[in-house]
Amino acid sequence: MITINEHYNKLQASYLFSDIAKRVARYQEENPDKTIIKLGIGDVTKPLPPACIDAFHQAVDEMASDEGFRGYGPEQGYEFLREAIAISDFRARGAEISSAEIFVSDGAKCDTGNFQELFGPDIVIAIPDPVYPVYLDTNVMAGRTGSFADGRYKGVVYLESTRENNFVPALPSQPVDLIYLCFPNNPTGSTISKEALRSWVEYARHNKALILFDAAYEAFIKDDSLPKTIYEIEGAEEVAVEFRSFSKSGGFTGTRCAYTVVPKSCIAYTAAGTPQALHGLWNRRHCTKFNGVSYPVQRAAEALYSAAGKEQSQHLVDYYMKNAELIRTSMSDLGFTCVGGDNSPYIWIEGQMDSWQFFDLLLDKAGVVCTPGAGFGKCGEGYIRLSAFNSFDNVSLAMARIKEALA
Ligand code: MLT
Repeated sequence: MITINEHYNKLQASYLFSDIAKRVARYQEENPDKTIIKLGIGDVTKPLPPACIDAFHQAVDEMASDEGFRGYGPEQGYEFLREAIAISDFRARGAEISSAEIFVSDGAKCDTGNFQELFGPDIVIAIPDPVYPVYLDTNVMAGRTGSFADGRYKGVVYLESTRENNFVPALPSQPVDLIYLCFPNNPTGSTISKEALRSWVEYARHNKALILFDAAYEAFIKDDSLPKTIYEIEGAEEVAVEFRSFSKSGGFTGTRCAYTVVPKSCIAYTAAGTPQALHGLWNRRHCTKFNGVSYPVQRAAEALYSAAGKEQSQHLVDYYMKNAELIRTSMSDLGFTCVGGDNSPYIWIEGQMDSWQFFDLLLDKAGVVCTPGAGFGKCGEGYIRLSAFNSFDNVSLAMARIKEALA
C-alpha cells in the first residue's frame, strides 16, 4: 500500500497566496463589472530593465549558433554571474564572500524552502510570527513540528514580532538550532539595525545554531546605517546562510533568478558533535536536484550589475518606493498605524478589526486586494499588508477608493 507523508495533513488548507487568488477570482466572477487593484502578493508590474532585455536577446542569439550554443550549465551558476554578485553585493560592502560561495537558483522561495533538508529531524526551529509562510510550511512538511492548535504548530519556537518590539523579535529565551530571519521583513516591512543583527549572530555562535537570513528585499533599504547583508557582521560567515533574489529589484518574478550564499566556513554538526561544512552539503543537494538556471536568464541577471543595469534597477526600486510612500502616508492620514514602506516595499497596517474582515471590506467596498495579516501567523491578526508593487496610477486610485470606502 502506498502511504502518504502525513505531515502534509498538518498543513493549513492551502498556501496563503493561492487562497487569496481563489477568493479574488470568485469575487471577480460574481462582480464582473468591478475593476480590482491588486496590492496583495508582491508581484512586480514594470517590464524588465532595458539592459537585461539586451543581454537576454544577445544570449538567445548565441544559443542559435553552433559556436554559441550551450547545453547544461554549471549547477551552481555561471562564473560570470557569480563573480559579478560577489564583487557588487558583498565585497563592495566589505564582506569577504567569493564567487565559489554563491549558488545561483531559480528563486529565494525554493531556496529558503529547500535549505532545511540539510538538517536533522529533531532540531529546534525558531520562526518569526508573522512570517513568510514558506519557512514554516516546509518544516511542517519535513516533520519537524507537532500538530496545529490554536494558531500554532507544537514544537516550534515562535519569535513574536509585535508593535511592542518594533517588529524585531527578541532573542529566544530557550536554546534553538535553526533561526529564520528576514530583513527588510516580509510581511511587516520592518528593518533590523546592525547592533540587533550582531546580537543574533552572537547568539548563533554561542549556541552552535544557524541563521537562515532572507535578504530578498535588501535593494529597498534607503537608510545607509542598516545592514544590507548579514556578512557585514563579523563572524556571521560561520553561522549564517543568506538568500537573495532578483525578483523585486530586477523585475524577475516571472523570469526567475536568485541566489544563496553558503560561506565555506559555515558549519553545522553531526549527531556526534563533529563540525561539517554546509557548503559541501548544499552543493551535493543542489547538483542532485537542480540543473541550473538557463543561460539567457543568467546573462540577463548579470546585466543588472552593469553601470546601466544598476541605474535601471535603482529606477525600478525608486518607482515602487514612491508607491510605498503614498500608501504609508495615505493610510496614516486615515488614522491607521503603519510600519514599513520606508526601507521596504511592504506596508503593515494595524486594521482595528479582524484581518480577514478588513480584507473583505477592502475588496467589497474599494475593489482593492490586500494580504490579511492573520495569514502570516497569529501575531498578524488585526493587521493587513499592502504591497507597493503596482503602477503609481493604480496605487493612487486604490488609495482614493479606500479613502472613500472608509469615509
Ligand atoms: C509575497 O508577496 O510575500 C512574495 O511575493 C511572495 C514571494 O516572493 O514568493
